[in-house]
Amino acid sequence: MMNPKRETRKLFPGAYFVFFFYVFVLCARFQPSEATKDLSVGQVKLQNHGLGSSVVFPVSGNVYPLGYYYVLLNIGNPPKLFDLDIDTGSDLTWVQCDAPCNGCTKPRDSQYKPNHNTLPCSHLLCSGLDLPQSTPCADPEDQCDYEIGYSDHASSVGALVSDEFPLRLENGSTMHPHLTFGCGYDQQNPGPHPPPPTAGILGLGRGKVSISSQLSSLGVTKNVIVHCLSRTGKGFLSIGDELVPSSGVTWTPFARNSPSKNYMTGPAELLFNDKTTGVKGINFVFDSGSSYTYFNTEAYQAILDLIRKDVKGKLDTEEEDKSLPVCWKGKKPFKSVHEVEKYFKTITLRFGSQKNGQLFQVPPESYLIITDKGNVCLGILNGTEIGLESYNIIGDIFFQGIMVIYDNEKQRIGWIPSDCYKLPNLGQDYGGDLSEEAYPRGFGLIGELFSGTDSSKNKNLASDGEL
Ligand SMILES: *[C@@H]1O[C@H](CO)[C@@H](O)[C@H](O)[C@H]1NC(C)=O
Ligand SMILES: *[C@@H]1O[C@H](CO)[C@@H](O)[C@H](O)[C@H]1NC(C)=O
Repeated sequence: MMNPKRETRKLFPGAYFVFFFYVFVLCARFQPSEATKDLSVGQVKLQNHGLGSSVVFPVSGNVYPLGYYYVLLNIGNPPKLFDLDIDTGSDLTWVQCDAPCNGCTKPRDSQYKPNHNTLPCSHLLCSGLDLPQSTPCADPEDQCDYEIGYSDHASSVGALVSDEFPLRLENGSTMHPHLTFGCGYDQQNPGPHPPPPTAGILGLGRGKVSISSQLSSLGVTKNVIVHCLSRTGKGFLSIGDELVPSSGVTWTPFARNSPSKNYMTGPAELLFNDKTTGVKGINFVFDSGSSYTYFNTEAYQAILDLIRKDVKGKLDTEEEDKSLPVCWKGKKPFKSVHEVEKYFKTITLRFGSQKNGQLFQVPPESYLIITDKGNVCLGILNGTEIGLESYNIIGDIFFQGIMVIYDNEKQRIGWIPSDCYKLPNLGQDYGGDLSEEAYPRGFGLIGELFSGTDSSKNKNLASDGEL
């Protein structure tokens, strides 16, 4: 556990006490994959909702070497663009805060500048959170401070603020809901990896403070999140249900014992090469904030043994390459995972019953990476080493080349193979490749539209002259 007694700071004079909460989330952001081919699957059929309201964002990133996928999001009026790591493993969205900031990776003019828009600790999203170490709200006017810790030991301390999020919906309407997020003025990153260069985190978990929960409670979108991450560094994220295909999706319900904030599924059985491994009854948390997948002791040992048996005599163990704990080398450096996939078998997670199971299939290219030294490494890591105990986490590496749907309305998770570098054909606006032309600034959100518009309603940022 982390030290919850970090110094907090008043963003504005006049707030005497600080309401403080602390969250530990299952989310690991590590280095970590590789750009290769995508499953070629035809354009999926979409549910016909008529005029719907979803927000769609192009996604950039990769598992290795970047280790994260991000969207560009406008916040404020006038709007400022922030790159945020998409994280279905945590709820709170936060942005590096010019308060001023410790441990920020962005220059000051790329940080968020609060403007008397902190939330009081009496606010539902502050006091209503079920936090392990929340303290009573001493004065309802106190600033609501937060501390969030991630399983890679990175952390952010800041204050909750509320500001406008200019969004363009699929139905053509533009909206500017006020959403709550963290202004993070103290980031720490004690782990072995450099701090992520993004301006912050886009929290898409199940809790009330997550962006999708807020949009849904404001009636803007359904509380459904879709992400599609390609191996080639592109993809898309959508909030709302318009991109959900009407058929072909494999659905599994949230686990009955799921923690209220995580997308936990299961129990599931682990198969290797379509055969049982004897590992069953395990739960999986779907977490886009984790680059890699983490198995518990039993599952990790089982998979490692089976893979080692298969590659014995074909590939040599490589111990110099520190990219990941388990690597192999060939006679010559590998350029692509396709050169080695013949040595590896498909891993399958079977949810539900043996007869009527829902299969989540992971081909070798979705659990291996090729490092910059040309070695092949296993993208499934030992969860016990980062203190996950009984948890298993499915991270970005397993999500490549599939559309993953987090359906909070029906309490289920779905997946379907997909061309993630293409947006599903919703209409004239969004068809075609996600090329640079299809990626205008402000796509899925509004940029230009906002400068110079009437801002008299927006007491907090109206005079802030930034951008
Ligand atoms: C689009 O959806 C939003 C949110 O549901 C709604 O408020 C708006 O009226 C819709 N616009 C059109 C043109 O239907
Ligand atoms: C996983 O990590 C734990 C804790 O460090 C260790 O005891 C265990 O042996 C590891 N398992 C494997 C297969 O390396």
